[in-house]
Amino acid sequence: MNPVSELETPAVTVLMDVMEDNIQRVQAHLSKHGIANRPHIKTHKIPALGKLQMQAGASGITCQKIGEVEVFADANVADDVLLTYNILGAAKTDRLMAVAKRLKRLAVVLDNDVVAKGLSAAAVRHQGEIPFLIECDTGMGRNGVQTPQAALDLARSAMRLRGMRFEGIMTFPLKPPGASLTNPKLSAPGSLAFFREALKIFGQAGIPVPVISGGGTPAIWTVQDYPMLTEHRAGTCIYNDVMTVASGTATWDNCAMRVRATVVSRPTETRAVFDCGTKVLTSDTYTVSGHGHVMEYPDAVIPVLSEEHGVIDLSNAKKKPQVGEVIHIVPNHCCVVSNMVDEVYGVRGGKVEATWAVAARGTVR
Ligand SMILES: Cc1ncc(COP(=O)(O)O)c(C=O)c1O
Repeated sequence: MNPVSELETPAVTVLMDVMEDNIQRVQAHLSKHGIANRPHIKTHKIPALGKLQMQAGASGITCQKIGEVEVFADANVADDVLLTYNILGAAKTDRLMAVAKRLKRLAVVLDNDVVAKGLSAAAVRHQGEIPFLIECDTGMGRNGVQTPQAALDLARSAMRLRGMRFEGIMTFPLKPPGASLTNPKLSAPGSLAFFREALKIFGQAGIPVPVISGGGTPAIWTVQDYPMLTEHRAGTCIYNDVMTVASGTATWDNCAMRVRATVVSRPTETRAVFDCGTKVLTSDTYTVSGHGHVMEYPDAVIPVLSEEHGVIDLSNAKKKPQVGEVIHIVPNHCCVVSNMVDEVYGVRGGKVEATWAVAARGTVR
């Protein structure tokens, strides 16, 4: 095992003790409340980490793209997979049916009848059956049927199609009542009210809803407020990042992913420049400002990145780095950083304990 100091920078590292603790704490919390844990592997895209999550007690995994399902099926990570994406087109539905044959259960989500009909046609073509959940928009303002009645109507029409088996409803993210994430002017009833009403009218229609699937890292610690949930899908929580800390659901000490970078320039008293930019940290700011948190210089900010340079503003920093110094940056959004690099290094006690290929990197189809 080589010392971490021998890693060339920039390098995406994961503190293994922190990551293992994150996996265990999330599993323990969901188990305590009788909710199945279905971690979203789009965060790490590394089969070995999916296996750790399964060993800790996960019931299966969540994937966002068929390519991820294929890579994780090749690695035998889990035989129960939920694909949380509307799958459209013969090429993709053929791939879906092919990979489904290698798993015990591959369920999909859908929020419109075009997707439902395409899936049904594929099920008929391949003489298979597709379990599906209806995706509900309970406040994010992204995919999802807009009302519980629309969920029931779509479930009814989709379950009448050949080869389609209704299993339940899902949302992302699990949200308390309030403003939409993407449009602050919209207010949404929140996941609890939506799910309650949906279960009432599905019950009146005599349609059982065995799966009620919530999602998102910020909601993990309050899943108990949604008593109808049967499972929860969280991804970011395996590493945590600036967004998770900003949401108040993790501390810097819970952040396992740290990008090791070298300070390559100190052009002015208040500026430092390090050796990575958007090609590692990405330009994702989503809900936070700046471009990452420098662990060694918590008062510093990263106001701007170019492709291969990161600029640190030291105006408010009590101490300042030297040229050649190695710093560790917690990225804004760890999931997109995973997709930027071929390898991620697992670090423990100052040594590189594992080098993981990001096997599902780039699987966006
Ligand atoms: C459908 C779906 N489920 C679950 C998740 C996991 O959310 P988080 O990364 O906040 O844990 C995501 C994240 O994008 C998602 O899109």
